[in-house]
This record gives sequence, C-alpha cells and structure tokens, in this order.
Amino acid sequence: MNKISIVGAGMTGATTAHWLAERELANLVLVDVVEGMPQGKSLDMLQSMPVIGRDVSILGTNDYADTAGSDIIIITAGLPRKPGMSRDDLLSANADVVGKAATETLKHSPDAIYVVLTNPLDTMAYLTLKLNKLPRERVIGQAGVLDSARMRAFVAQETGVSVENIQCYVLGGHGDEMVPLTHHSNIAGIPLRDYLPADKLEAIVNRTRKGGGEIVNLLKSGSAYYAPSAAVAQMSEAILKDKHLILPCSVYMQGEYGLSDIFFGAPAMLGRSGMEKIIEYKLDPDEKALFDKSAAAVKDTHEALKKLVKI
Ligand code: APR
Repeated sequence: MNKISIVGAGMTGATTAHWLAERELANLVLVDVVEGMPQGKSLDMLQSMPVIGRDVSILGTNDYADTAGSDIIIITAGLPRKPGMSRDDLLSANADVVGKAATETLKHSPDAIYVVLTNPLDTMAYLTLKLNKLPRERVIGQAGVLDSARMRAFVAQETGVSVENIQCYVLGGHGDEMVPLTHHSNIAGIPLRDYLPADKLEAIVNRTRKGGGEIVNLLKSGSAYYAPSAAVAQMSEAILKDKHLILPCSVYMQGEYGLSDIFFGAPAMLGRSGMEKIIEYKLDPDEKALFDKSAAAVKDTHEALKKLVKI
C-alpha cells in the first residue's frame, strides 16, 4: 500500500484525507501542531471505513517521525484567508509553517513527491523546492485543477451541459491575475468563445478569478476546502497510478512559456515520478499579455519571500 502524509489536519487537510480514503489510494497520516485534533479526526474517519468498505489505515499524529516512508507529502498547514485579505497577505505567517513542514518531512521521506496547497500557493511551492533542494519533478502546487474546476462548474450552471463535457484551462498564478483561457476551454470540443455570448463568458471569467474570495466572504471565517482537497486527491491519484494525466498545476518553469525560476500555473503531465512534462499552449497575444502580467505578480511574491527566508 502506498503512503500519503498530509501536514495540516484543518479543513483542507482533513477533507483531503476523506477524498483519498474514499479512493482507497494509500494509507494516510495526518500531522498537525494541535494536540489531539489530528488523532481525533483520524480515528473518526477510520471508523467510517467499514461503512464505505475501504481498507486503509488513517493515523493522526503530532510527530513527523510517523510520516516516514511516505510516497507523497501534501502540505496544507498554515493560515487561511479572512474576508478582505489577498493570498499574498499570508506570506510571512505561512512561510514559517510551510518551511518547517517541508524540511521536517524530508528527513523521514527522502524520496517523497510534494504537493503543496498552502497559500500564497505558487510561492509556498517555490519555498518547498528551494529549501529541500529537490528536482522540479518532485514539487507540484495545487491551484490549476481547482481554478479550472470552478470555471467548469460555472459553465455547467450557465449552459446546463454535464460537467463531464466541459474542459476548462485556467493558467498563470493562483491569484486575482490568473488566466482563464477562453479559446482552449471547450464544451465537447467547441471553444467556449464560440459557444457562449461574450458578456456571459466575461462574467464567468471574472467570477472564476475571484472564486476563492467569493467563498471566503460567504464563510466569514476560513476559506474553501472541498474543491481544493478534491483537486489534490485527483493529482495524488494521477501520481500514484502513474496515469500520465495532464492537469493544470503550479510547476517550476525552466524556460517554458519564456519563464524561469518561478512556480506558475501550466498544464503538466503527472505520473509516478511526479511532474513529468510541462505542456506549452500557443497563446493568443491577449492571453500572453495576461500571462505575463500574472507572472510579474508571482515574481513579486517570490522576491518578497526571499527577503524573509534565506533560500
Ligand atoms: N505544523 C503543522 N500544522 C500546522 C502548523 C505547523 N507548524 N501551523 C498550523 N498548522 C495547522 C493548524 O493547526 C490547522 O489545523 O494547519 C491547519 C490549517 O487548517 P485550517 O485553519 O482549517 O485552514 P485550511 O482551510 O485547511 O487552509 C490551510 O490551505 O488552501 C490553503 O489558503 C489555505 O493557506 C491555507 C491552507
């Protein structure tokens, strides 16, 4: 049985464990700083396994030693946003938490693949890669699957077509400058630009960009967790089953799309070695301009990180 450890047993971490256990994908470890909480949640979840007929072990702990030998480490520890905050406002608080999670887990699982969810996402993935000195194949940020799923859900609501027929691609940084592609995104092969009137499409693009903030404002405390955790479960399955599945992810660029030394959202092939390949789309000039603007915003956050942490 494979092993996945999830650091941060809060809303996102625990819900990730739930989706993963349902897929019977791996034995699971939930780690948190709060004493008792990961143990209690894990025990509760473990007791639901007989009901749904899944044979996985689920362990809650405060000790990183219990994560030893993990195939995948998922990092969801840290603060979520409050209403009015941007993801970048979390930088200094979450850099400490993610830095510790990354270095402590690597001591016990030197071969693990990292999937990072904590915000500001692209920069937390960058921190994990740099601190742990890992090859880029082994650090992937979860953002694009979520942002694309939000867009797919809105398109399905607007058109009444099954979500299964709707493919959307949201690239770029995981912030308000993200780039929903309206030509490559399609309904059963028909580009969205040709399927939906321009005003409806623009409304969907704008709602997608602010999709996380909409939920933060509704919840009043905490941020989204069902869709982010479902997204990381899909990525984990693609890795452990060596599916070579192409999903939008935050990946470390080495020249692709003209970008280097930055984590940025692009379609990537996921398999047993992690991030196997970055797919390069031909972007329209207007999409390229948005892409570059988003990259500049992410670079700024990377630079702000470098002032906080020596990497
Ligand atoms: N080590 C381990 N766990 C920690 C640490 C640490 N140093 N610091 C905080 N945590 C734990 C908290 O105790 C809490 O249980 O991280 C968990 C975070 O859970 P929530 O507060 O419920 O936040 P959540 O909604 O899960 O979001 C976590 O994921 O999507 C992102 O923006 C979101 O950055 C946020 C992160």
